[in-house]
Amino acid sequence: MKRSTLVILIGLVLVGMALAIAIAVSVLHDGLSAKATPTRLEAFVARNARHLAIPGNARLMENPVLDSPEIQREARLHFADHCAICHGNDGSGDTPIGEGLYPKPPDLRLPATQNLSDGELFWIIENGVRFTGMPAFSSNQHNGAGNHGNGQDSWKLVHFIRHLRHLSEAERLEMERYNPKGPEDRAEEEEEKEFLNEATPKAKPESHPGRRK
Ligand code: HEC
Repeated sequence: MKRSTLVILIGLVLVGMALAIAIAVSVLHDGLSAKATPTRLEAFVARNARHLAIPGNARLMENPVLDSPEIQREARLHFADHCAICHGNDGSGDTPIGEGLYPKPPDLRLPATQNLSDGELFWIIENGVRFTGMPAFSSNQHNGAGNHGNGQDSWKLVHFIRHLRHLSEAERLEMERYNPKGPEDRAEEEEEKEFLNEATPKAKPESHPGRRK
C-alpha cells in the first residue's frame, strides 16, 4: 500500500470516529431523560434519517381522497379521538403527554411539518416513527391497534393536518367533546350528574321536607 493511501485511510477512520463520538455525545445527553430536548444535531440527524427511510415513491403519492367539509369533520373528530392526546386538538403538541415524550411531538402547523409532502405525512401516520412516541395506525398491523382501513382514514387526516392552521374556535370546541376522557373527567361528570339529580327534587321519600335532618 502506498503511503499516501494509508494516510487517507487513517484520516477517514479518524473522521468517522469523531463523527460517531459527536453523535453519541449528542444522543446520550441528560442521562437519557425523556424530559430533555433533542440537541440540534440529533434533531437534524433524526429528521434526515427519517426522510431517507421513507421510500421515494411513498413521498410522491397523491391524496386519493377528495377534500370536503364532511371529510374534514370526520378527520377532525378522528384526530380529537386518536391523536389529540399527544398532539393537542390544535396540533400544537402542548399536552401533558406530549411534554413528557422524547422527542416531543412537533407543532404540526409549522413549516417543518407543512412542507412535508402529502405522501410523506400519510406514510408517517400509517407507519409511525420508530424510537419515538409516534405510533403506527395502519390497518395491516398485527397488534390490532391500527384501524385506518385501506389507508382512507389516514388520507383524511392528511387533509385535516393541512387545515390545522385555519382551525376555528368552534371546530376546536367541538373536538373537545370527542377527546377521550380520563378517570378524573369521568369522576367529575359523575359528581355533576349526582349534583344535578339532588338539585331537582323528585317525589323521593328522602326529599320529604318533614324528614330532613
Ligand atoms: C402517543 C403519542 C402520539 C400519538 C397518539 C400520535 N402521535 Fe403523531 N407524533 C408523536 C411524536 C412524539 C412525533 C414526533 C416524531 C419525530 O420526532 O419524528 C409525532 C409525529 C407526527 C407527525 C410528523 C410531524 C413532523 O413534522 O415530523 C405526524 C404527521 C403525526 N405525528 C400525525 C399523527 C396523527 C394523525 C395521529 C393520530 C392518528 C398521531 N400523530 C398520533 C406522538 C404521537
